[in-house]
Amino acid sequence: MSSNRVLITRQIPEAGLAPLRAFGADLTVLQTREDAGVTHEELVAGVRGCDVLLPLLTEPVDRTALTANDRLMGVAQMAVGFNNIDVEAATELGIPVSNTPGVLTDTTADCTWALLLATARRVVEAHRYMAAGKYNLWGPNLFLGEDVGPGGSGEPKVLGIIGYGRIGEAVAKRALGFDMIVLAYDPYGRDRVLRSDYATWAELDELLERSDFVTLHNALTDETRHMIGEPELERMKPTAHLINAARGPVIDEKALVRALREGWIAGAGLDVYEDEPVMAEGLADCPNAVLLPHIASASRDTRGLMASMAATNAIAHLRKERAPNAVNPEVYDTDAYRARVETS
Ligand code: GLV
Repeated sequence: MSSNRVLITRQIPEAGLAPLRAFGADLTVLQTREDAGVTHEELVAGVRGCDVLLPLLTEPVDRTALTANDRLMGVAQMAVGFNNIDVEAATELGIPVSNTPGVLTDTTADCTWALLLATARRVVEAHRYMAAGKYNLWGPNLFLGEDVGPGGSGEPKVLGIIGYGRIGEAVAKRALGFDMIVLAYDPYGRDRVLRSDYATWAELDELLERSDFVTLHNALTDETRHMIGEPELERMKPTAHLINAARGPVIDEKALVRALREGWIAGAGLDVYEDEPVMAEGLADCPNAVLLPHIASASRDTRGLMASMAATNAIAHLRKERAPNAVNPEVYDTDAYRARVETS
C-alpha cells in the first residue's frame, strides 16, 4: 500500500497538483464538479484511505474526520483561514495542520477596496440601473454616494480597521492613496498596530464612532464571533459603510440587515456570510449591500500560489518533516505525533 496518498477534497489549480505528482503522490480528488461539494460522510470515508488530507474551507474537518485514520500525517488546508478545522483536536491527536498565509494578502486587500469603493459610490446599484435601460436623463441627484478621499471638502475620511494582521495592514497601506485617517483595533495585535506606519491605535468604540468606513480583517474565534452586533452597528455613523472580507460570523448578520434597512449605517460590502453560502433573510434585497461570493483571494495568480503552497505543506506532511506553514507547530513535540510517525 502506498504511503503517499493525498486526498484533495475538490478540484484545485494545476499549480498545486503538479508538484504533488512530481513528488510521486498518489492523488485522489474527491469531488471534481465545480458546483458540488463533499458530504461529511464522503470526507470521513476519504480520510480513512489517505495519508494527507488537502481540504478547502468548505469542508468541516472535525474530530470525527480527524479520528477516522490513526495514520493521517497532516492536513494541508488551501486557505489562510482554518476555522473549519478543529485544530485543538488535531493537536491532541498528533496531526499537524498547515495553511497558506502571505500569498493572498494583497489580493484580499485589493478586493476589500473594491467592496469599499463599490459600496461608497453605489457602483452595483448604478450598474443595475444601466443594465435595466433606466438611464434616460442625467440628474444632479442620481446615485449620490460618499466620498472615500477628502473630495471637495478637503476633510479626510476615517477608515477603521478591525483585525490588524497582514491583510489589515495591506488595506491600511492602500488608504494612503486616499489621504485617509486610518484607525486600527486588534484584540490580539496591539503591538503590530503601534509599530505600523499606516495606522493609529483606537479602542473599538472610538473606532466605530469615528470611522466613515469600517473593515473587518480578523480570524474567526470564540472572541470575534458576533463582535459586530446591534450595539456596535448602532455606534456607527449613519453615513458609514461596513466591509467584511474576513469571516461571516464576525458580524451578527440579522442585526446587519436591520441596520441596512433602518438606516443605522449607509451600506455594507460583504464577501463572507454568517451561514455561508446562505444569506440572512432580507440581505439580498438590501439595495445598499454589495455582495460577493467569497472571492477576495480569487485572482488567477493567487489561487495558483495558494495551491502550490498547500502542496508544499502536504509534501512536508508526507515526508514527516515540519511543514513550512504549520498552524500548530507545537504538535511536533508531542508523543501523539511521534506515535503517529512510528505507526504510519
Ligand atoms: C479565504 O477565505 C481564506 O481563508 O484563504
